Amino acid sequence: MSNNIPVITIDGASGVGKGTVSSRVAKHFSWHLLDSGAIYRILALTAIKNNIPLDNEPSLASFAINLDLNFKPLEELRTEQCAAAASKIAALAKVREALLARQRACRIAPGLIADGRDMGTVVFPDAQIKIFLTATAEERAQRRYKQLKEKGISAKLSDIVIDISERDERDRTRSIAPCRAADDALIIDTTKLSIDQVVAQIINL
Ligand code: DC
Repeated sequence: MSNNIPVITIDGASGVGKGTVSSRVAKHFSWHLLDSGAIYRILALTAIKNNIPLDNEPSLASFAINLDLNFKPLEELRTEQCAAAASKIAALAKVREALLARQRACRIAPGLIADGRDMGTVVFPDAQIKIFLTATAEERAQRRYKQLKEKGISAKLSDIVIDISERDERDRTRSIAPCRAADDALIIDTTKLSIDQVVAQIINL
């Protein structure tokens, strides 16, 4: 792959702060932002709305090929139900394959911040800078809880802990493109860091 357009990949499990950190870094450099999780979420929502079972790989793959990536950031995309469905369909090889080239096409000048699970390992293995964010499961559940509450979405902390653990387990242990740090990624434990501190650390790099 030869592409000189710079990419910073920011991967990590759910609730680790990737979304906020990525959009802040993208804004700082005036670079493009790829929220790859949103692609899996919109595909999941499309499947639910069209009554496509979440294990119907061929159907989901053909939807993925034609998926409109210029969707509006819908509130329904942020629910835990949608996240769980996204995590299920994200384990399907043909779905990931269908989305690969489309994600790579987001590498547009002057640069790209790519947020996801496999940005540094699979989608942009030649990225100039790779970050992998971590935080304890408790901290991530707390953050997610706060986030949902701020958005007016009702949730129970104990349910979130269960949802997050199940989703992480699936994202981490799937055979294709599991959520893991690339060998050349810098791992930042954000448990005790503020968003500002994490953003500053990445910008300094
Ligand atoms: O980042 P997120 O919570 O919006 O992602 C939702 C789900 O999509 C996540 O549980 C797994 C899947 N996903 C993925 O498999 N690969 C990515 N690069 C991004 C998300």
